[in-house]
Amino acid sequence: MSSTPGKPPAHGLRKGLTQYGDTEFSLFLRKAFIKGAGYTDDALDRPIVGIANTGSGYNPCHGNAKDLIEAVKRGVMLAGGLPVEFPTISLHESFAFPTSMYLRNLMAMDTEEMLRALPMDAVVLLGGCDKTVPAQLMAAASANVPAIQLVTGSMLTGSHRGTRVGACTDCRGYWAKFRGDQIDQEEIDAVNNALVPSVGTCSVMGTASTMACVAEALGIMLPGGATAPAVTADRIRVAEQSGQQAVAMAAAGITPNKLLTPKAFENALRVLLAIGGSTNGIIHITAMAGRMGIEIDQAALDRMGRETPVLVNLKPSGQHYMEDLHAAGGLATVLRELKPLLHLDALTVTGRTLGEELDLAPPPFAQEVVRPASHPIYPEGGIAVLKGNLAPRGAIIKQSAASPHLMEHTGRAVVFENMEDLVSRLDDPKLEVKAEDILVLKNIGPIGAPGMPEAGMLPIPKKLARQGVKDMVRISDGRMSGTASGTIVLHVTPEAALGGPLSLVQTGDQIVLSVSRRELRLEVSDAELARRAAQRPAAPLPPPEAQRGYRQLFMQHVTQADEGCDFDFLRATAMTATCPSNQ
Ligand code: FES
Repeated sequence: MSSTPGKPPAHGLRKGLTQYGDTEFSLFLRKAFIKGAGYTDDALDRPIVGIANTGSGYNPCHGNAKDLIEAVKRGVMLAGGLPVEFPTISLHESFAFPTSMYLRNLMAMDTEEMLRALPMDAVVLLGGCDKTVPAQLMAAASANVPAIQLVTGSMLTGSHRGTRVGACTDCRGYWAKFRGDQIDQEEIDAVNNALVPSVGTCSVMGTASTMACVAEALGIMLPGGATAPAVTADRIRVAEQSGQQAVAMAAAGITPNKLLTPKAFENALRVLLAIGGSTNGIIHITAMAGRMGIEIDQAALDRMGRETPVLVNLKPSGQHYMEDLHAAGGLATVLRELKPLLHLDALTVTGRTLGEELDLAPPPFAQEVVRPASHPIYPEGGIAVLKGNLAPRGAIIKQSAASPHLMEHTGRAVVFENMEDLVSRLDDPKLEVKAEDILVLKNIGPIGAPGMPEAGMLPIPKKLARQGVKDMVRISDGRMSGTASGTIVLHVTPEAALGGPLSLVQTGDQIVLSVSRRELRLEVSDAELARRAAQRPAAPLPPPEAQRGYRQLFMQHVTQADEGCDFDFLRATAMTATCPSNQ
């Protein structure tokens, strides 16, 4: 180690010296090598701010990384620090086989170990696309290096034949029209060119936008840092200010354990509910909290949901896009409305509290994107937690994006055993399915798929889509994109691949969904379920295995959705607090 008992902790280049058995030689050697890049002793004596660079040719959501890093460096130097960028894994939703969630924990491990291995007094985490911000914050929580989150910002919206469009709610909407023969090949090709008109993250309140807002609510991002679009001067300014703030955080010792408290996570959950945020946000917040030894209380979360209205009118729950939320004053406009429900004494990266930052925020003005709490988009929080014999450890539904007429629904199950089964039979004209049936997809959970892909929004079977059916109740142990909508029950836990009750559902069973009672019930007797379980080829099911490598690590250690799908050995060794803590 580079620090000696009784001496102040090492900083700058003296941090984390490579071990050669001679501390001063280790420092001598390190300086000799880095001087090869042209640094002076003056530069090397400054506080070092690492910049996690997730720019990648495979990640257009991070396509502005180069410009942002330049601005961060400027900010660090303006504050008297030395910026040093370093690469980590980068994940893009559409460029990650089998699914980005499978790789989130790998990115978290990569980032955590780099934060430990490289000498830095603080770090600016540049993320953006869905899994990158959770991975970086999970890493920061565990490494406990002063850290500030910077996001790449949302992409612009496009236009298709006079209609404003944006990824990826409109991707799904137009694709559903194409499947239902409402638009032709020429039009779907034209839409494909319009959906993503610039670099940056998805322009709706999908997972990336959700996690940006969650990071700001947690206090680990600059106030006002969540919403500036990727290609704006505001975004560049946030980057410069983040660099400056990182230097201040290093001096003040503002480490993640001072920010990521139960109160901060409760604030983040409030915001997630009020923005109509992505269901994925629940999993990621659970994983981040788990790193800090904080357990998310699902029952209390559901109570919070009942008292937290959806205020933000963004797709998929509403009408607008992220650039509109930014123009409406950003997250501060939402936080101001939520004030009575927030812990205003939670600390932020500035060293001031959330309440103090809200007092400093620009004054409110008339706008149409964020509703007052007295006139919400939806009276309850966007996400409800369901329980019942089909999901003993819980399931969730994004009620703000569901169809009102399906929220209390009993229907006949039409079961697909796995993704391959779904693909081969869903559009078969001979498939017996009606609009009032419930589509059930098994084996797309954390282990089953593996990686819990965003396949929970099963397409409407073609023959029903052609009849104009737009929504059906759909149930799975998987996830869905934050940009998707419909009456979709997700994260059924325990998953089918672990022998959860979902694995026992058969076509023809009756299933009861009652969002008002928070219930998901399989109308099959316990005796019949026990009989089915006993008749399985192996009971309990042998857990899926992998022969080697990361896949083996994943299969052996990934936890279920109610524990954030983190690896068991990466969570805190003991859960010492719950969130919300005061209910
Ligand atoms: Fe990157 Fe949507 S694909 S944010």
